Amino acid sequence: MSKYRIAWMPGDGIGVEVMEAARLVLDKLGLDAEYIPADIGWEFWRTEGESLPQRTIELLKTCTCGLFGAITSKPKEEAAKELIPELQDKGLTYRSPIVRLRQMFELYCNLRPCRAYPGNPLNYRDDIDLVVFRENTEGLYSGVEFHPLDDKLRETLTEFNPTMNRFKDVPADEIAVSLRVITRRGAERIIRKAFEYAKQHGYPTVTLVEKPNVLRETSGLMRRVAQEVAQDFSEIELWETNIDAQMMWLLKDPDNYGVIVTSNMFGDIVSDLCAQLVGGLGFAASGNIGDDIAVFEPTHGSAPKYAGQYKVNPHAMLLTSRMMLEWLGETDMAQALEKSIAGVIAEGKVRTYDMGGDDSTMDVAKAVAEKL
Ligand code: NAI
Ligand code: MG
Repeated sequence: MSKYRIAWMPGDGIGVEVMEAARLVLDKLGLDAEYIPADIGWEFWRTEGESLPQRTIELLKTCTCGLFGAITSKPKEEAAKELIPELQDKGLTYRSPIVRLRQMFELYCNLRPCRAYPGNPLNYRDDIDLVVFRENTEGLYSGVEFHPLDDKLRETLTEFNPTMNRFKDVPADEIAVSLRVITRRGAERIIRKAFEYAKQHGYPTVTLVEKPNVLRETSGLMRRVAQEVAQDFSEIELWETNIDAQMMWLLKDPDNYGVIVTSNMFGDIVSDLCAQLVGGLGFAASGNIGDDIAVFEPTHGSAPKYAGQYKVNPHAMLLTSRMMLEWLGETDMAQALEKSIAGVIAEGKVRTYDMGGDDSTMDVAKAVAEKL
């Protein structure tokens, strides 16, 4: 029996191609793992009405972790139209499988390291080393949304907060509400993870990015919890910034920052900016990490316009595999892989289109594998 069971979830489009690249490298490393194919993505929505079939959920429960490529997703109405005829008019609603995985398996920590590898022509600056901790299960992406706004709910909201009266003349189907839910437990576990990481990896600061002057209650709770957690880490300084200003400062002085922690939607935004600072989607790796299980994925999507062409950059997926190895405790393999990736980038001989080259996805994977 292998040491690890890894759910293998290529998904759609270029997800399939970058996963093939990852496999080449993992096989070269000789990771003692069984890779179990798992169904996820658009095809399963279209033909079964479920992009994350129950069998995949059951399979994941038996796995050490999952590796995921990318999926295609589309807005509600468009998604419904693409269902096979037998499933039309059954009232099925498309739900993002990755968001569901995060919530279902309590993968509360979305970890996104963004490092400028020397020699990458796409680096915004060469001294960037940012690590974003994004809360992954609540906040504005909790999935508690209302449209049309039920009269009873509106009355209750108004009763508890008269500010709601401002919208009293808006018809029910012309108003939509999404709840930003922050819990103390949710805030504490992500903030603690960020501090622990900072301590372990020698970062002097943790920056909490919120907006407490406007979102007084939800960002306010994040802030109070951060200040409490910080007391357990006397060697690390807590910085507090506002999301809007932080976006400017990250462009102005990205090297001032190290570990950043924030709630779900702000984290989504801030991590895309950070990814762009170090080369964009071709370099953006991520992990969705819970206490028992984790699912690792590059942050890019299925890039339909490149699907089937083996043109896209696999570095994001390879760096994602590196994160998985580190999480598994295979530190030597993780370091070896990172060194090979950094070596290929520094040499600049094998590059996909986004880096100005014309090598294929698999050419890059082979170059990385050769250095291992
Ligand atoms: P995308 O990330 O798929 O691609 C946008 C563009 O970024 C591509 O056209 C390409 O120019 C570039 N790009 C992406 N990955 C790259 C790589 N590895 N190397 C080089 N260039 C790369 O985002 P888009 O086009 O907005 O969405 C396409 C589909 O993917 C949609 O259905 C969307 O819903 C889905 N999506 C899925 C995600 C996931 O699986 N977690 C995340 C983002 C989007
Ligand atoms: Mg995003």
